[in-house]
Amino acid sequence: MTNKVSVDQDFCQAHGRCYAVFPDLFEPDDEGRAQVKNHGAVPESNTVDEILAVCPEAAITSV
Ligand code: F3S
Repeated sequence: MTNKVSVDQDFCQAHGRCYAVFPDLFEPDDEGRAQVKNHGAVPESNTVDEILAVCPEAAITSV
């Protein structure tokens, strides 16, 4: 299983749930869209599935 995620900018609608719930993994750009931090490396304390589930637009994908 992969342990990295990315954000598809075509789908991100700046809901902001990702960086509210996982601030160590995501941060907003100037328009509120998510960018990954630390190259999208998933912290050991989290699973990829729970991170993917936080986005209502399914903009977060495993890579
Ligand atoms: Fe964008 Fe989804 Fe986060 S819409 S800001 S990737 S919760």
